[in-house]
Amino acid sequence: MESQSVIEVKDLDIGYDDHLVMQNLNFSVNKGDIFIVMGLSGCGKSTLLKSMIGLKPPSSGKVLFYAKSFWDEDENEQKKIMRRFGVLYQSGALWSSLTVGENVALPLQLYTKLSKQQIQEIVALKLSLVGLEGHEDLFPSGISGGMCKRVSLARAIALDPDIIFFDEPSAGLDPINSRKLDDLILELRDGLGATIVVVTHELASIFAIGNNSVFLDEASKTMIASGDPQVLLRDSKDPRVVQFLKRGRIDE
Ligand SMILES: Nc1ncnc2c1ncn2[C@@H]1O[C@H](COP(=O)(O)OP(=O)(O)OP(=O)(O)O)[C@@H](O)[C@H]1O
Ligand SMILES: [Mg+2]
Repeated sequence: MESQSVIEVKDLDIGYDDHLVMQNLNFSVNKGDIFIVMGLSGCGKSTLLKSMIGLKPPSSGKVLFYAKSFWDEDENEQKKIMRRFGVLYQSGALWSSLTVGENVALPLQLYTKLSKQQIQEIVALKLSLVGLEGHEDLFPSGISGGMCKRVSLARAIALDPDIIFFDEPSAGLDPINSRKLDDLILELRDGLGATIVVVTHELASIFAIGNNSVFLDEASKTMIASGDPQVLLRDSKDPRVVQFLKRGRIDE
């Protein structure tokens, strides 16, 4: 069976005012992919993600979700598409004045008509999925950075998204918690059947969870590789890609 494209990026150019960040981006994310956006710091990964999640119109080109061109739809339709996304931002960004439970409940209060009781049940379920059952009443300032990440993740999956975007999810986590987060991402894919896009330059994560990818290069302002990271590591002839995937060691 041919795999189904959930997201298609076509001839996409992105940038800020007259500063072009990336051009000619073309790739597809298939259903059930854990799709890695990789490249060196500052190359444009977060900017690409912003154009994919509906926060930043591209300079030109299209982003299609289930064959619908997001930036050509009206606001109503765009909202409907965005309602299917879960997003974990690079900064994590929990509301410090709200408890853990209230943070996770927020999207449910904003986007659903569920009762307080129903919302509490979903919050409890999502917190248990990230290993934080019973932590509803704590405040973000009273839990560790890794726990905050997991709360943000519980919030990102509160609405049962079928597409989840993560921007540097393991930044600031120790290797053990990084690994746990990888396992959680795999569980989300397998358990919820979600399609997942992850921006990261953590090599361990890239190889542990990614089955598809795009590699952005700042100097040429475009993508210079795509596909399964393991295959890229084995077969790529591009020294920029090999050097990145081998952590700078090109001679080995
Ligand atoms: N709000 C903005 N206004 C103008 N330029 C920006 C803005 N945000 C980012 N840039 C520029 O766009 C380029 C790409 O930035 P971006 O944040 O997308 O990179 P990145 O690959 O996510 O980097 P990192 O790995 O450090 O998170 C950089 O040159 C950056 O300075
Ligand atoms: Mg970034």
